[in-house]
Amino acid sequence: MNILITGGTGFIGSVLCSRLLEDQHHLVVLSRHPETLQSPVQGIGSLSDLTDAMIFDAVINLAGEPIVEKRWSDGQKQRILRSRLDTTQALIAYFTRIEPKPKVFISGSAIGYYGTGRTNESIDETGVGDDSFSSQICRQWETIAIQAQPLGIRTCLLRTGIVLGNGGALGKMLGPFKLGAGGRMGDGTQWMSWIHINDLIGIILHCIEHDGIQGPVNGTSPHPVTNQQFTEALGKVLNRPTFFSMPGVVIKLLMGQMGEELLLTGKKILPKKIQEAGYTFVYENLEQALADVV
Ligand SMILES: NC(=O)c1ccc[n+]([C@@H]2O[C@H](COP(=O)([O-])OP(=O)(O)OC[C@H]3O[C@@H](n4cnc5c(N)ncnc54)[C@H](OP(=O)(O)O)[C@@H]3O)[C@@H](O)[C@H]2O)c1
Repeated sequence: MNILITGGTGFIGSVLCSRLLEDQHHLVVLSRHPETLQSPVQGIGSLSDLTDAMIFDAVINLAGEPIVEKRWSDGQKQRILRSRLDTTQALIAYFTRIEPKPKVFISGSAIGYYGTGRTNESIDETGVGDDSFSSQICRQWETIAIQAQPLGIRTCLLRTGIVLGNGGALGKMLGPFKLGAGGRMGDGTQWMSWIHINDLIGIILHCIEHDGIQGPVNGTSPHPVTNQQFTEALGKVLNRPTFFSMPGVVIKLLMGQMGEELLLTGKKILPKKIQEAGYTFVYENLEQALADVV
């Protein structure tokens, strides 16, 4: 297949590209630094670099300013939002003008879609959002992406959870945990809906291959855990104590709204649609997933 990817240089995108290359697909990656991409991947700096002769079977949209790198100042919030909306809007404009159109469009989103309120209720793809910044970004991002559907392109909105892989959120946590200074955040009762990176890639491939899947798809494991359970599992896998805890008030002071929305709240998200579509998870158990990654 010919596949166009945005964000193909990132934490998730680079693993995805390696997997797709193993399967002999031809990849074009849209990047702000196309010169860094190496053959056989073709890098482009703009969608206008694509000729009419280039026909894509699938398009995967993962580009965006990192959400957890910096404090959410007004300027940073705009960068987070605009980087996603502008890339997605450019893809929709591209889809409108090309023929034949791709068969499938997988566009990134996040479980932040479901908002920040505290609840122990399980949430599937029918869940709704709220006024939090995370929920607003995802709603606006998805509202643009879904415009590909009436153009005749099957569109999946990948509501990704906390991805466990070599880097990402786990990469940031590992330092203190390895030093024996890891511990729960706040009261530890907030849910962490995690997924092993290989399963996220598996879900993307499953969405490409199965014509019946469209709309929102939760990219999370079937067994979300609380922050307290996650802390204990990571300590056990690393064989390190986890006595410390970071009080919520300190997290709010250090990280502001970002810490409040991403670290101190979290919902129990279930991957109902992809399981009903026949995807079998490789990593359902958190300790196994962590042991594989660390
Ligand atoms: N990792 C997770 O746990 C997680 C969880 C939920 C949702 N997601 C979503 O899944 C997508 C991929 O995640 P990731 O962790 O792989 O992302 P990432 O590594 O932070 O970034 C993906 C790519 O986005 C491009 N990018 C970065 N800043 C940009 C900007 N200001 N404007 C335009 N493009 C920019 C970069 O590509 P170039 O440098 O090549 O341009 C980068 O390689 C993201 O949209 C993220 O929000 C991730």
